Parts: sequence; structure tokens; C-alpha cells
Amino acid sequence: MRHVIESQQFDQAYLSELFALANAAEGSRDSSLRGRIMASLFYEPSTRTRLSFESAMLRLGGSVITTENAREFSSAIKGETLEDSIQVISGYADVIVLRHFEEGASKRAASVSSVPIINAGDGAGQHPTQALLDLYTIRRELGRVDDIAIAFVGDLKHGRTIRSLAYLLGKYRNVTMHFVSPENLRVGRDITEYLDRHKVPYEEHERIDDVLADLDVLYQTRIQRERLAKPADYASSGNSYQIGKDLVERMKERSIVMHPLPRVDEILPEVDHSPKAAYFRQARYGLFVRMALLTLVLAPAAG
Ligand code: NCD
Repeated sequence: MRHVIESQQFDQAYLSELFALANAAEGSRDSSLRGRIMASLFYEPSTRTRLSFESAMLRLGGSVITTENAREFSSAIKGETLEDSIQVISGYADVIVLRHFEEGASKRAASVSSVPIINAGDGAGQHPTQALLDLYTIRRELGRVDDIAIAFVGDLKHGRTIRSLAYLLGKYRNVTMHFVSPENLRVGRDITEYLDRHKVPYEEHERIDDVLADLDVLYQTRIQRERLAKPADYASSGNSYQIGKDLVERMKERSIVMHPLPRVDEILPEVDHSPKAAYFRQARYGLFVRMALLTLVLAPAAG
């Protein structure tokens, strides 16, 4: 079964095939998934992930059934377990795209599902399809993934997108990772231990300025306010990493600023007009990558 649970599961051959399909999907529509049904089951808020998955399925001729805000509007509110919901829904759909507030939820779902589960975010755990579109963005914008320096900035403790992308970038050659965060929101040991094990060089910093001039990619993230134990943690982290025009102008000429979105105030709107601002293009690439992913999950022969 082709579940998509965590970034570590992808190998180079899979990534090459996926990116070739995503490239071909840019701007295209077909009916290759006609008659197939995707269920999107979202227990946490989402704009891009849910709508881009749904748009991707529709552009491939498939159909969509959907529960937004499943925490309140599904039978979960009546006490149904995730496992029971999944067993039932996997009888209605050919693939389930799941976002849940608990780490490990997708793995649990996969253990009882009779159709593929795609993890669209599990608490502070992973967001593997975001990592795929992030990687696609880097390739598309810079022409390579090997030999780059990237800084992850912001709430590295709770950010699931940085966790998934760090795991994925660890598979490429000569990638240097810089983790820039306040002391209380430092990147988790699970990631640094993984990087140590795979001999991927990384450094931790408290100031963006320490690394800015070397960067090919600045990956900004939002403080995950809803995942902080105490609101005081938010106040103390503040927006000391806010990115404005001046800062972006000091980056290398062929470099990009990425953000999984939504942004709050960590990138000022004045940056949007810079050619280096790649975040809205990144969100758009997500559609093509998800088309490719649904194709591989549902119709491997077509790949
Ligand atoms: C991210 C998420 O849900 O983890 N959003 C997304 O899917 N693009 C990032 C975030 O919420 O900060």
C-alpha cells in the first residue's frame, strides 16, 4: 500500500519520478483519475493543503468528499476514535488525505485503513507533502538541490514543515543547514541526531545576520502559537526574526525566501515584490506536486 506518512520514506528514484510528473502537471488537466474518490479529513485548520489537494484531484478528473473541521463536525465530537472513522471512510474513498492534531495520527490511521493514507500534517510531527513541494520549489527556482545553504528560521521546535524538509534535504549532497531560532524554540534532537547520523553538516544560530550572506534559501516559519505551552513563550520569542526589504536585499542575488504560509508578521508585505520572494510561487507549485503525488498513489502504471 502506498501510504505517505513521513519524509524519510522517499528515495531518490521516487523523488525524480514525482518531480518529472509535477513538471508535466504544470498547467495541465486530464482525466487520468476519473472515477476515483479522494476523501479529505481535516481535524486542524488548513487553507492551502486541503484546497490544493482537492484542486489537484479535480484537475485529474477525480472526485472529492471532504470534512473540514472534523474535530467538531465529524463523529469525533461524539467520541468516535480516529481508527473507527478511518475504517469507515476507507470504505467510501480510494485515498484519504488526513490532517490531525496528534503526532503519529497518520501512522495509526494507516494501520487500520484499506486505502492509502496521505499525511497532511500530524500535530507537531510531520508534513511530508509540504516537504515535497518545498523541495520542488528549490529545484525549480535554483535549478538544483545539491550544493545549497539553507537557513530555517523561527519556531523550529514545533514546526512540522521544517522537520519534514530537514529529513528530506539530508538525502542530498553538500547541503548545509542553519537553524536560526530563539533559545526556547530550538530545533528538536530528533532532527539533529538524524543529521549527525547521516553526516549532514548543520549549525545553530540565534541571529539571521550570522548566516545571511551565505544563503541560497531562507526558509521562514511562523511561531506556532497554538502549540506553545505558555503564551509567555510567544511574547518572549516575539518577532525578532521579522524579514523586511533591507534584509532581503542583503541576500545573494540568486537566492530565495520561502515560507510554507500562512504568514503572520514574520515577512513584511514589502518583501512580496522582490524577485527573491518565492512563497506564493511555492504555494502554487504545491498544486502540481500534489497532482503528481495522487497520480503515483492512485495510478502507478500511468507514472
Ligand atoms: C503549515 C502547517 O500546517 O504546518 N501550513 C501549511 O500546510 N502550509 C505551516 C504553519 O501552519 O505554520
